[in-house]
Amino acid sequence: MPKESPEIFLSGIKLSRKSSEPLYAQLYAQLREMIIHGRLRAGDRLPAGRTLAEELGISRVIVSQTYEQLTIEGYLIGKTGSGTFVADTLPDHLLHAGKLKVVSPKPKKEPVVNINESTVRLPASSTENEIVPFHLGVPSLDSFPFKIWHQIGNKVLKDLKKQNLGYNNTLGYWPLRKAIASYLRLSRAVQCEAEQVIIVTGAQQGMNLVAQCLLKRGDKVCIEDPGYFGAASAFANAGVEMCPVPVREDGFDVDYAQATYKNIKLAYVTPSHQFPLGYTLSQEKRKQLLAWAEANDTWILEDDYDSEYRYEGRPLPSLQGLDTCGRVIYCGTFSKVLFPALRLGYLVLPSAEMVQGFKKIKQIIDTQPPLMEQLILCSFMEEGYFLRHIRKMRLLYAERLNTLLTLVKDQLSEFLTPNTSQSGMHLLCWLSDDIDAAKLKAEVRKEKVFVSFPSEYTIQHHMPPSITLGFPAFTKYRLKLGVEKLKVCMERARK
Ligand SMILES: Cc1ncc(COP(=O)(O)O)c(C=O)c1O
Repeated sequence: MPKESPEIFLSGIKLSRKSSEPLYAQLYAQLREMIIHGRLRAGDRLPAGRTLAEELGISRVIVSQTYEQLTIEGYLIGKTGSGTFVADTLPDHLLHAGKLKVVSPKPKKEPVVNINESTVRLPASSTENEIVPFHLGVPSLDSFPFKIWHQIGNKVLKDLKKQNLGYNNTLGYWPLRKAIASYLRLSRAVQCEAEQVIIVTGAQQGMNLVAQCLLKRGDKVCIEDPGYFGAASAFANAGVEMCPVPVREDGFDVDYAQATYKNIKLAYVTPSHQFPLGYTLSQEKRKQLLAWAEANDTWILEDDYDSEYRYEGRPLPSLQGLDTCGRVIYCGTFSKVLFPALRLGYLVLPSAEMVQGFKKIKQIIDTQPPLMEQLILCSFMEEGYFLRHIRKMRLLYAERLNTLLTLVKDQLSEFLTPNTSQSGMHLLCWLSDDIDAAKLKAEVRKEKVFVSFPSEYTIQHHMPPSITLGFPAFTKYRLKLGVEKLKVCMERARK
């Protein structure tokens, strides 16, 4: 049986004792009008007679009379013991009138939303619907420890105190900031104390916050080319001048940036696992980048989005860990290690003073991140489940990457040459010369295989044709089916 809707709160009823019309007739006309215009809809439960009478300051009898009249006319139905509801089927003449939709007033002139359409690019992929091979950047959601998360969530709700319910801290829940700082110090060699951490609703908010706090219209920003356009879009929308820098096998080309641009205000980099090419910024280039930043007062925004996933050797320390002059802003996310809808990430700023400056801007954006998720995540980290989950996922993803590499080698070697990088959440493969990339794009769309094309992430620096394949979210079986479909697409896309 469908659940009955809760009693609604009826606003907007205006009764006048000075009017020549009796109160009963005024109330009747207004309720009827609301039903005809769709403000009140089939199944909506009206307030109890006594409640509405008290709210309107009229006698209960007036409300009962009105409800009775509307019931007789077929607009309302009374259910004994449950209340009064808007009828499912309205009188015929109303249905024919075709007026049952609320029509919102339209502005005379279509308003212009302040977005720079020519440079802002929205993500092509949404995981709202089914996640299919080889969707990019999606963790294995089937392996999420739901039971533990539920247990912690239940406990958090049970222990919720009055003091948790007001405005808390703009910078995030303090114990969570401490847990993140401790994790980053140990696992990512980030030099930080909890005072330097700001909790944001995902790395995307972090990047926007950096743009709002540090960049002015016309400032120059270096971005990797190809690169993550979530970041590029945040900067573009702040009105900065975009300065694309090519990516080599040892990462962001610092020599190119140095030789080509002057007065760079900020450089955005993904040093652990370049997005989308998967390269790692070499040690030598890290030092060169930091020296350049120091000499030019340039901010470096290090996006360490999926560095937890390194499948051979030790995890690489962060670039921030090498910074001796406080130029690196470190940005991380829980979207890849836990799940994207959690919408939690963090920024680590060079100093606690700078954090206080950011706090002022953040306060006018979102006041604070939602507390409940922070409380659950904090316990999840403090009780050791977070590290355990990462370790488990690292093993699982290494296995899935191996499966994918074997499948590509066995079935797609005439079309693809995979990159050898043993890290991250996607595999880069170079397309062979006899594949028409445009045809392939059309074929994968038709076959509902999700393949990304790094060339779509470029601004100015063209690169040989390639594709990226996300693998963490897919079992061996699904990877196998995905590769079979991809093979069909490849065959059809030959030149
Ligand atoms: C390189 C990179 N950085 C940042 C993000 C955004 O993370 P978040 O979900 O925390 O906004 C993504 C998401 O896919 C990404 O690929």
